[in-house]
Amino acid sequence: MGGSAFYNFALRPYFFRHRDPEDSHSETVRFLSSSFPSSIYARSSDIHSDVLSVDLAGKVQMDGPVGIAAGFDKDAEMLPGLANIFDYVTVGTMLPYKWEGNPRSGAPGTRRIVRLDAKRSMLNCLGFPFMGLGEAVGRLGRYNGKVPVSVSIAVRPPAEGQSLDDVYEQFRSMLHVLAGEASKISMIEANFASPNTKGLAVFFDEGVLEHLLGMIRAEVGIRQKLLFLKLPPHIDDPGKEKNLGIAQRWLDANGNGITVINTLRMDDNRLSMGAGGLSGAELYPAMLKNLKDYRNRFGREPIINAVGGIFPENVPEVMIGGQADTVQVLTPFIFYGPTYVHDAKALLAAELKKRGIPSLKELREAQMSGKLAQKQ
Ligand SMILES: Cc1cc2nc3c(=O)[nH]c(=O)nc-3n(C[C@H](O)[C@H](O)[C@H](O)COP(=O)(O)O)c2cc1C
Repeated sequence: MGGSAFYNFALRPYFFRHRDPEDSHSETVRFLSSSFPSSIYARSSDIHSDVLSVDLAGKVQMDGPVGIAAGFDKDAEMLPGLANIFDYVTVGTMLPYKWEGNPRSGAPGTRRIVRLDAKRSMLNCLGFPFMGLGEAVGRLGRYNGKVPVSVSIAVRPPAEGQSLDDVYEQFRSMLHVLAGEASKISMIEANFASPNTKGLAVFFDEGVLEHLLGMIRAEVGIRQKLLFLKLPPHIDDPGKEKNLGIAQRWLDANGNGITVINTLRMDDNRLSMGAGGLSGAELYPAMLKNLKDYRNRFGREPIINAVGGIFPENVPEVMIGGQADTVQVLTPFIFYGPTYVHDAKALLAAELKKRGIPSLKELREAQMSGKLAQKQ
């Protein structure tokens, strides 16, 4: 399983003792929003920062490539604690308003999160629970840590009686509130890729996606931020062409990059909705293949954040063979624990050294010039 003995034998059993993983998560929120973790885990960003520092388009600098993925800290409650562990922190997905998400249970015994311990994977059908924009942005405003923050944002599809214009208006108001704390935000990740919200894919439609991106670029304060689009997984050729087409339109419309991938929709009667998204180790092969599909089509230039079942031992393959610019992690962090970042960076630095590559920056240059390109 890896990870530290303290996490494996003390913390994880303590967090995992709850029957419902959502209760474990609430426990984690309490733990990581306290000052205790900082006292036991040294800041991981400094490790090998001479070799592993990352510069995204000359706009965002990080001490290393490892970030926490969207969904772990939906309400920005753990920002200081996570900033102590990760090279960058994604908060959200935020919505324009408070939202309960999908029902916490449906048929008896069902839940919104199911942990598949033996597979180091999870299923969830949360459906964007969010406690409210004002509070979350308030917490963002109080953040004074050193690592860059990415804010994941979404809107929900038009409800009955609503038009797309109503939703655009909600989106605009959310952007305006976020712009109030623009100095705390380095990146924005638009997420219309969750499998748990019916009708969300309307935002990928021709014209709609471009309109939403244009609205972000029109909001003074956040217009200069790096903008990413999170994509759903594809598992066949038609899915691949569809996703590559969406990514192409985003990049053509001046998006800076993409985040690959969100969870994979699966039916499962242990979930309150009867279906949900798969994350963790089981998602890794599809993620790596998807990542290479994007690189083969778009080349090395656009920024790609890789996410999906990336355990520390996978990080060198994702960064070197997969040509990712950053990696994000959620489920593997839960299984592996807070030493994730330290261990992933040690493995990556060792692999670069073994290959005679002085730094991640030089790795990128070599990949750009085609010297290290790995066509699949
Ligand atoms: C419990 C849970 C909640 C998530 N919530 C979000 C979310 O709010 N927004 C989002 O873009 N992705 C969300 N995700 C997807 C993750 O960010 C990530 O794309 C996916 O889990 C694959 O990465 P992993 O294997 O490292 O978890 C969530 C995933 C999980 C397991």
